[in-house]
Formats: sequence, structure tokens, C-alpha cells
Amino acid sequence: MGVTDYFEAPPELLPCLPELLADIWALGSSPEIVVEWLRSLQLPPEATQILDLGCGKGAVSVNLAKELGFKIKGIDFFEPFLVEAREKARKLGVEGLSSFECADMLDILKESSDYDIVIYTGVGGLLGSFDQCVLRLRQTVRPGGYMVIDDGFRVTSDEISRSGYDHYTYYQETIRQLTPHGDIILRENIVPVEDIKSRH
Ligand SMILES: C[S@@+](CC[C@H](N)C(=O)[O-])C[C@H]1O[C@@H](n2cnc3c(N)ncnc32)[C@H](O)[C@@H]1O
Repeated sequence: MGVTDYFEAPPELLPCLPELLADIWALGSSPEIVVEWLRSLQLPPEATQILDLGCGKGAVSVNLAKELGFKIKGIDFFEPFLVEAREKARKLGVEGLSSFECADMLDILKESSDYDIVIYTGVGGLLGSFDQCVLRLRQTVRPGGYMVIDDGFRVTSDEISRSGYDHYTYYQETIRQLTPHGDIILRENIVPVEDIKSRH
């Protein structure tokens, strides 16, 4: 899937996207929750390496560098978001801990390994079912490493007609799909539907 397909926008509208989203740094996640979860692991600053796939404007990874001193590598295929991510890192004084690369995460996944943590927040069903998603993400981290996934599950049986949403399934099945490879769910945060609606 290319950039225009992902954003469901014709190519001529893509240059408007940064301006339309100018006021929003976190495009799909709650960086403060991720920072608090990872803080509790007490991993060593600077020696801890993070891969943030579909990092957008770097809201999660730049905060991790700033708050916990982790080394971050952000990947996104939309360069204007990366320009903003680099600028944020510079403003917050964590330029030296961060690098942002414009690339398709499907290519990066093939060549990445041994990270301490992989972040996959708000990207959606790009990697298929949660079972397939976890299988691909876990290859990027060292044994005993961590995955942070921010996505959703179904609460109704309503027909899902939008593309990119067909990987969603009910809660119990979602948990089953997240754990068939021996991984343990350490933390879980379910945002109530009402809270999500009130944000839009
Ligand atoms: C909803 S945003 C979430 C951004 C960020 N993770 C956050 O939580 O703020 C999803 C991001 O994934 C990126 N993306 C989607 N498919 C991608 C791909 N195949 N390779 C690289 N980036 C991709 C988009 O450009 C977009 O910036």
C-alpha cells in the first residue's frame, strides 16, 4: 500500500495533509501512557534501542527519548511528518538520541533485529491479523524484548466496510491472536468507546 492509498487521499491533496494536522502531534496514540509503561521496566537509558514503525511525527519515540533517554529510530513513509519529528527532537534536545528514516516499514521489517522495544501505534491492519502482526514485530526485537501495539477490537457485529479495518475481531479473539507465539501481555489499556467518540 502506497502513501496515497494509506491516507485515502488523491496525490494532489497530500501536500495539504501536514497543514490539516498541524495542531496534532500524536496521530494515533497516547505517548504519556507508553512512557509510563516503559518507565516501569527500568531499562537503561541510551543502551535501550527503540524501533518506532509508522512513527508519524515522532510523538511516541521523541517522548521516550526525552523522558527515558532511550535511543530511537523512527520509520515513516511520509517525509513531511518526519521533518516535524526531527524538528521536535531538536527542540526538546534529543536530536542526538534520535534518527528518522523515510522508508516503507515492510522493507525495514525484513532487515531489523535486536531492538529492545518495537513500537507500533495507530498504524492499523497493515501487517494483517494480530497473529501475523506479532509474528513480524517480534522478529525485530531481541529475545526478552518488548512490543508496544496500539490498535482496536470489535465491540459490535456491525459490518465493516472500510478497507484497512478487516483485521479487527472481538476482544477474546484479539488476545488469542496476540499471544500464540509465547508472548506475555504485560500491560493493557482499553479506552472506552465513549472516550474515543468524545475526542472526535
Ligand atoms: C495514524 S499515524 C500514527 C503515527 C504514530 N505512530 C503516532 O502514534 O503518533 C500512522 C502512520 O503510519 C505511517 N505508515 C503507514 N503505512 C506505512 C508504511 N508501509 N511504511 C511506513 N510508514 C507507514 C503513516 O505515514 C502515518 O504517519
